[in-house]
Amino acid sequence: MKPNIKNIAVLTSGGDAPGMNACIRAVVRTGIYNGINMFGVTQGYQGLINDSIIPMGARSVSNIIHLGGTILKTARCLEFKTEEGMEIAYKNLKSRDIDGLIVIGGDGTFTGARNFSKKYNDIKVIGIPGTIDNDLYGSDFTLGYDTAINTVIEAIDKIRDTADSHDRLFFIEVMGRDSGCIALRSAIASGAEAVLLPERFTSIDELVTQLALGASTKKSSSIVIVSEGHKAGGAYDIAKQVKERFNHYDTKVTILGHLQRGGSPSSFDRILGSRLGFAAVNELIKGNTREMVGLRGNEIKTVKIEDALNNHNFKLEGDLLEMTKVLSI
Ligand code: F6P
Repeated sequence: MKPNIKNIAVLTSGGDAPGMNACIRAVVRTGIYNGINMFGVTQGYQGLINDSIIPMGARSVSNIIHLGGTILKTARCLEFKTEEGMEIAYKNLKSRDIDGLIVIGGDGTFTGARNFSKKYNDIKVIGIPGTIDNDLYGSDFTLGYDTAINTVIEAIDKIRDTADSHDRLFFIEVMGRDSGCIALRSAIASGAEAVLLPERFTSIDELVTQLALGASTKKSSSIVIVSEGHKAGGAYDIAKQVKERFNHYDTKVTILGHLQRGGSPSSFDRILGSRLGFAAVNELIKGNTREMVGLRGNEIKTVKIEDALNNHNFKLEGDLLEMTKVLSI
């Protein structure tokens, strides 16, 4: 039996995340398998406005499952926030009779999806959580987070080698915007001495006390993970403030930056991307709209996009924060 939905477009928007290509592949092939015409939109919402919408076949997603980034490219598009921008996007989709849209991205992407589908409800929209920040409610893990944290840990391990050889104190800044998930969990996984998070303010005095304790018990090197959203500033500011009060170690700073977003996706992200892409098309076939597909427990479930936006996934795991102190004595 032919599904009600005839034409589906897929786009990636916001920051790219490893696993997006595996997800695009799953969306395109699940659609084609079900007799649906599939389209790819390049550069996210900007591509909808620029009418950059291309047909996609099963072979157009060959040999991409292992690639980082997104073959569809991505962008952060201000124009789509305006009524005029949304109207142009709508007309471009309608000119191809597109009745289903799948958006892969983070909360900015979902805000666009919600506003668009409320205004034009004849195009059904399903969201897939794709961001390294792991901050979307309704999915235990977002696409790209697993690869990113493994990239971070690999980098910290390397820094530890040189920190220890020189008896140095390193401040390593990691991404996450206003979510401390990468910071907190990479601190545990790398054995860092301290972590500074956006969700909980740590004063410079508190940090210095912790580092001084380590020095007094003959720690030869120390690593402090600084999440980019910390209120006392970035890693350079914090390193400077610490150095003014505690000069025991030679101090260095590393900003991991965008290398955290690249690289071949882990098996976890390839499988997650495949499952979410497959599920998103099936939600459209069922006639659903304004839902996000996510991983909860080991099952793919849906949540309203509105709920995903109104909640924050990453609730500070107090036990992990406590552990960073206990395990780094
Ligand atoms: O949301 C993903 C993310 O990598 C954040 O961790 C970071 O704050 C932001 O994107 C960086 O964005 P851009 O690549 O636009 O500088």
